[in-house]
Parts: sequence; C-alpha cells; structure tokens
Amino acid sequence: MAEKNKREMFSTGFAVFFATLGSAVGLGNIWKFPYLIGTNGGGAFLLVYLLCVILVGIPIMACEFYIGRKSRKNAVGAFKKLDAAKGWKTIGFMGTATAFLIAFFYSCVAGWVYSYVFKAIKGDFVGVTSSTASTKFMSTLVGPLSPIVWQFIVLGIVSIILIAGVKNGIERITKTLMPVLFILIIICAVRSLTLPGASQGLNFLFHVDFSQLTGPVILAALGLAFFKLSLGMGTMITYGSYFTTDNNMIATSAKVAISDSLISILAGIAIFPAVFSFGLKPSEGPGLLFMTIPLVFSKIPFGSILLVAFFFLSAIAATTALISMVQVPVAYFTEEKGMGRTKAVLFTTSIMMVVGILATLSAHPTSALANIHIIGERGFFDSFDYLSSNILLPIGGLLIAVYVGYFTKKEDFKLELSNQGTLNNALVLDVIYVFIKFVSPFLLIIVFLNSIGIFKF
Ligand code: PFF
Repeated sequence: MAEKNKREMFSTGFAVFFATLGSAVGLGNIWKFPYLIGTNGGGAFLLVYLLCVILVGIPIMACEFYIGRKSRKNAVGAFKKLDAAKGWKTIGFMGTATAFLIAFFYSCVAGWVYSYVFKAIKGDFVGVTSSTASTKFMSTLVGPLSPIVWQFIVLGIVSIILIAGVKNGIERITKTLMPVLFILIIICAVRSLTLPGASQGLNFLFHVDFSQLTGPVILAALGLAFFKLSLGMGTMITYGSYFTTDNNMIATSAKVAISDSLISILAGIAIFPAVFSFGLKPSEGPGLLFMTIPLVFSKIPFGSILLVAFFFLSAIAATTALISMVQVPVAYFTEEKGMGRTKAVLFTTSIMMVVGILATLSAHPTSALANIHIIGERGFFDSFDYLSSNILLPIGGLLIAVYVGYFTKKEDFKLELSNQGTLNNALVLDVIYVFIKFVSPFLLIIVFLNSIGIFKF
C-alpha cells in the first residue's frame, strides 16, 4: 500500500499556522480554561497561566517543532532518527500513552458539546434560567446510553477525517472555520460584558489575589498551559514533521501561543460576567461552560441561532484538537509498526471508545462508577485529566527541554530554526535557547518539587 510510506505535508505557511492553532484551540479554551480559573480563584491563576505560556510553553513548542521537522518522523521515530543510541524515544512512548489518556475524557466532553448542538437546534434552551441551565447540563451527563453514543459519534467522525489524510482532512476544516468561532466568542463576550453586574465577573477574572497561589494551583496552571498548547506529548513533534521547510517556526510558536491565549481570555470574558450576573458560582466545575453560554445567548437577538452556531463551531474546534491528539498514536503505528493508516486509526479510536466509557460514566453523578476513586478523591474522568495534564505533560515537556538544551548541538538547533540560515533571527534563537536550557526546565522542576511538598513557596 503506497499510503503507508508516503508522508504528507501541510501545503503553505498559512496552513501550518491554522492546523497548529486547530490543535491548540479546543475544549481547553472554552471549557477547561474557564472552569479551572473558576475553581482556582480567578486572576492569580490567570497570571501564573500566562507566565507559564511565555516562559515554558513557547520555548517547548519551538523544541517540539525542531524535533519534528528535523526528523520528519512521529514522536517515537523522531528520537530514534535524531539520536538512535540513547533512550530518548521514551518521550515518544510516554506521549503516545498520554494521547490515549487525554482522549478518554476529551472525547466525553466533546460528546457533551455535540449533544448541545442538537439540544440548541431542538430549541431546548428557549426561556432558559439559571436553574434550568443546570438541570439540562445534569441531564446531559445522565444517560446512561446517550453520552456514550455521543462520545462514539465524536470518535467516529475523527476516524473518518483521519482516514481521509492529514492534508485533506485537517487543513480544509481548520483554516475556514477558526475565524468564525473567534467572531462568535467576541459577540458572546460583548453581550456578557453588558449584562447587569458584569464588573464582578471581570474583577474575578483579572484581579490578582496572591493569597490564592498554592502549590496545587500553580501546578494546575502549568498543566493547563501544556494541555492548551498541546505540548509535552509529541503532538507538536508530529505536526512539526509535516511543516514546510520555509516555515519560521519560532514565529509560529509565538503566534499560536498568543492567539490561543487571546481566545481563552475572550472565553473567560464571555463566561465570568454572566456567571455573576445570573447568580451562578464560578466554582461550578466542568459544567460551567454548559450552564452559562445558553444563558448569555438567551439575552441576544437571534440568540437561539447564534447558540447553535456557537456549539457547532465549538464542536469543530474540539474535533480538530482531538484529531491532532489521535494523530500521535496513528503516526506511531503507521510509521513504526507498519500498520496501514485505516487500520491504525480504527485501532486507536476503538481503544479510546472502550476505555473512554469509564470517563463518561464516572462523570455521571449517580452512576456506580462515580464513587470509584482512582487518584486521591478523583474518579476516572478526573484521574485521566490529572495524570495527563498535571503530571505526564509537564514531565514530557521537561524531558523535551532537557533533550534539546543538553543533548542536541546548539548549531543544529539554530540551523533548523533559522531555516538553514535563511532567516535573520540569530538573536531570538539565542534568547529562546537560554530559556530552553535554563529557564523552562528550572521552573518545571521547582513547580514539581513544590507540588509534591519537598518545599513550599
Ligand atoms: N489543546 C487542546 C485544547 O486546548 O483543547 C487539547 C489538546 C489537543 C491537548 C491535542 C493535547 C493534544 F495533543
């Protein structure tokens, strides 16, 4: 089969940017970012999150692009190709495992989003109030069958797109629809800002209260930065491997990180003023997005149509992010294990479907699975999330930074990231290199030591 060996590439720099943004922008922006800000006390968390994006996220994204494009391989094969002798390919194996862990719960939340598209089309949110908004969210979690059916539909669609190929599938969807989602979030943010009592929400989001900053809060902000930018698990290595040779990868890293953070902050501005205005609690948890957005759109002319559009585009953003996640094991199975693409996709998504059921059922408050604790007090859903975002992604990121900072020649790094000297960015590269070598790993180690209680800030 020719499909096995042929490596596809993104066609232009524009496509590279949108595909990468399509991986970064997803449920992380509209679902996870607001709910974590809500449960971790607001502005202080936001500040630490943004610092993590700048000091750790951008340098590590540049490292992943470097590894991916230089090797033109999947997350495991890349390390073999660049550095056959040492055990660095463990990063790739860990990343492949992490892709599964994230997909287990991510596909569940994507299923809720898909189901909201249909609820919105059916007019379920007409005349919604804060109490009916919560009831509707709860009824989405209770199936037991329907949330699982939605989860399967999500993974089925992801499989179809992936079987169609990297270029046809991912490129076309991301570059046309991302800007529309952006506009809808802006509309929603503007309306939310003009609700009575909106300023309380803004205050919550932007007022920095340093007393909120505990070790677990900082670790959660760091984990979110990795999750948001799809870092630490080889996704950006895999995507980097499809980049064009003339792409300015440092610029791409910065542009993706900035655009992504902007979208998250806008989502925060769309949600928090409404939370306060409608008398909900910011610490509502994973249901925050699903409870507030229907309320905001209920106050906008043509809101019921815009609500359908909002959840539809969010479903697309979730799908493109999921595609990049599933692509990590798929690239590994096709390139390292010789599987055909179709078989690799179906194998990967079937595992995600089966184990993903555990996440979906454990999120359902009255199911038997809801009371099974895996890590501390966390059930399956939260444990998959905690283990991947707060532990495995930062460890993966640390190893990637150490690999590039200490086990790669600086000249190789500079040559690849300056496109063989054709870009005039030597100074930027020197600065980024200092971050990779000293700043990012150091910060990651401090946050870890703090969170496991070795010392306190
Ligand atoms: N960055 C995505 C989001 O914020 O929704 C989530 C994600 C996608 C994480 C792909 C990891 C990944 F490989």
